[in-house]
Amino acid sequence: MRILIQTLCAAALLASSALAEPIPRLAKHGDATQLLVGGKPFLILGGELGNSTASSLPNMEKQWPALKALNLNTVLAPVQWDQIEPVEGRFDFTVIDGVIAQARAHDMRLVLLWFGSWKNSMSTYAPAWVKRDGQRFPLARSPDGKTQEILSPASPATMAADAKAFAALMAHLKAIDGDQRTVLMVQVENEIGMLPSARDHSAQAEADFKKPVPAAVLKATGKTGSGSWEQVFGKSDAADELYQAWTFGRFVEAVAGAGQKAYPLPMYVNAALNKPGAAPGGYPSAGPLPHLYDVWRAAAPSVFLAPDIYYPDFTHWAAQYDRPGNPVFVPEADRAGNAEAPANALWLFGQHDAIGFSPFSIENVAAPAGSSLAKAYALLGSLSPVILAHQGQGKMRGFRPPVSFDGTVDEKPQTATMGEWTVKVSFVDPWTPKDKQVFTAHGGLVIQLAADEFLVAGSGIVLTFGEGVGLEKVTEGRYVDGQWIEDRWLNGDQTHQGRHVRLPPDGFGAQRVKLYRYR
Ligand code: DGJ
Repeated sequence: MRILIQTLCAAALLASSALAEPIPRLAKHGDATQLLVGGKPFLILGGELGNSTASSLPNMEKQWPALKALNLNTVLAPVQWDQIEPVEGRFDFTVIDGVIAQARAHDMRLVLLWFGSWKNSMSTYAPAWVKRDGQRFPLARSPDGKTQEILSPASPATMAADAKAFAALMAHLKAIDGDQRTVLMVQVENEIGMLPSARDHSAQAEADFKKPVPAAVLKATGKTGSGSWEQVFGKSDAADELYQAWTFGRFVEAVAGAGQKAYPLPMYVNAALNKPGAAPGGYPSAGPLPHLYDVWRAAAPSVFLAPDIYYPDFTHWAAQYDRPGNPVFVPEADRAGNAEAPANALWLFGQHDAIGFSPFSIENVAAPAGSSLAKAYALLGSLSPVILAHQGQGKMRGFRPPVSFDGTVDEKPQTATMGEWTVKVSFVDPWTPKDKQVFTAHGGLVIQLAADEFLVAGSGIVLTFGEGVGLEKVTEGRYVDGQWIEDRWLNGDQTHQGRHVRLPPDGFGAQRVKLYRYR
């Protein structure tokens, strides 16, 4: 009997592991890095919840109709250290288990955000047993010795406690989600950055600052020589910030490494971007920022770097995270209800082979069903097999009017060479009064499907292809399971008698365009 039961159990285990989805992972595809889910490339059409929304299950349960109406496939939700480890070593995963169960019931994937030692520089999510024990878990200090309500990143004890809690979370995720993989990725900490000075001046930090600069930092910064941080980099905010970035990065690596040892999901860190012209400390210093990219990658190779983009110059910041081996992911884009969010998404996927886009405060979009984000995500969802197939191949471009930091919109037409063609994209719709057009909401992507054929998708863009190039055939349609369904042939007024391809600004659409040369 016992042998029979053992055999049945082994068979059940085998069956369940045969059914288990492969673990999400990052993989190269041409010169892009993709996220593989179930072994296949995946586009995160995401949205990040407000900080407190997923802290209670009844409250979370109320959000799903809106999240579904937005056509998201992934929700970014916090997991808070104080909630899962209220007493040292005693874990309570009730809330995260419930969030995962709710996500599954609504056919949604999750990216979890580990609100551990730091959330927006501060340490409010650390459990009380950490916060109340400043001896064991020292706080950061400013240059005048004033304590901050910020855990010192130089503390080995804090690093060990955070890593232990995170490893417990990841081991738990493996146990409850190792077959279904509802959770795709994990963000480690949240918007790390030192305030109000460029670096921590706690006793441990002061001692570390006098130690020789690690060889990996010299390599990452292209410096030669040896000595303390001040000896090598001089006495400056920049030197302080570099030290702090390395220290934060090593802390993150310890936490992420412990988590990945338990369950190796892709992990990333998110950056609160530095306001142009501000000195370190005037912005959260030493986070995973563009100017600290190399030192962060050297310090924390287990995570990739992702920008939270709340500034109007979205294209400027996103482009700086498109670097070899670093998947492009925007975990927080300025509020989900903002008019420019859909155009930013289309541009990001078209121009930077992004793995995902996720505006913040996603549950607060007014009238989610029928919102422009819902329409853009419906379009992107149907196009995703085509987009994914063309990532990393140099056959896809994104277009949207760039906006400067001060909000100035540059609606000048843009041109791109795609194969043998010059594609000119204008953002001013010829058939809509100019004062009725919101140019920041105009944008789209263009994919070269074949030598003479393009897919164009988006809103408020007009394409022309130069002298001697005609439109052989233009169809409006949609992809269903990767197959193009023609809804209409576009000609006559819809192509301005063959002069242009137009995606009107009052919706989100897709067209296939075949070109020819006339002489
Ligand atoms: C950025 C943070 O990462 C989020 O958690 C949230 O606090 C937003 N800022 C608020 O705008």
